[in-house]
Amino acid sequence: MSKRLRKVVFPVAGLGTRFLPATKVVAKEMLPVLDRPLIQYAVDEAVDAGADTLVFVTNRYKHAIADYFDKAYELESKLAQSGKNDLLAMVQGTLPKHVRCVFVTQPEALGLGHAVLCAKPVVGDEPFGVVLPDDLIWNGKGPGALRQMAELADAQHAGVIAVEEVPRDQTNKYGIVDASPVSERAAKVKLVVEKPKPEVAPSNLAIVGRYVLPGRIFELLEKTTPGAGGEIQLTDAIEALLGEQSVLAYRFEGTRFDCGNKLGLVKATLAMALADPALAPATREFIADVR
Ligand code: UTP
Repeated sequence: MSKRLRKVVFPVAGLGTRFLPATKVVAKEMLPVLDRPLIQYAVDEAVDAGADTLVFVTNRYKHAIADYFDKAYELESKLAQSGKNDLLAMVQGTLPKHVRCVFVTQPEALGLGHAVLCAKPVVGDEPFGVVLPDDLIWNGKGPGALRQMAELADAQHAGVIAVEEVPRDQTNKYGIVDASPVSERAAKVKLVVEKPKPEVAPSNLAIVGRYVLPGRIFELLEKTTPGAGGEIQLTDAIEALLGEQSVLAYRFEGTRFDCGNKLGLVKATLAMALADPALAPATREFIADVR
């Protein structure tokens, strides 16, 4: 895989049941961490990795994501008229000018693998990124996780999946890899197992929401039969890819917040507040006092 990473897919068609009732009307990806929705952090990371085409796999209820990246004519003209240029720049700055968005629909929530497959007509046969916005990965001023992975994929001509060590008793919540180390942060994947019980898990290296994959994965996804819960699993197609191409598991630099659950969103919010000089002192004070 030697081409630059131009296209990034955001599978955002899940039901978000862990945030009901809010997700009856608010897409999970629009939940804010401070003043920016999760999808903005994900898009910024993709743009940082070099992407110029963002493919959102949505469902028919998630208009808010398209609206968010669209021009807000009335708001922008009001801010311009009242000379609120800082706010205007913020509203206009959700997406750089050279980046385009493409929206495709996943008609039914048939799993992450199926959602990625829905992006095939837009991505075609080239390496692409996949970012799950509910895994917010923050690396401060350093390169984002997807950029680190794109560089590795390019240098090693390999697919790359992001992994993180998780406590043994949580292996049944993740895809788990068995891999042999090739460098400090990278390991060659030998096996992937979806949600193994702790006693049979081959390691505690869990796949988290970032992937750099070759276009070939689409053909493998087309051949993948539904697994647990009738869902088409991305890990099954990655398992098939292992027989053909090298795939690296990569321990990224940065901190992952699992914002798909309530505690993760709370932690991300606190971490971002502590990283913001304007909010940090009062946040620290609050944490010290809260009962
Ligand atoms: P999750 O497993 O977090 O599911 O999906 P979910 O529906 O978003 O949330 P819960 O578990 O009901 O609270 C992981 C990612 O895969 C996407 C989701 O949008 C999320 O980004 N996904 C999942 C799809 O796009 N389509 C699917 O059919 C399933």
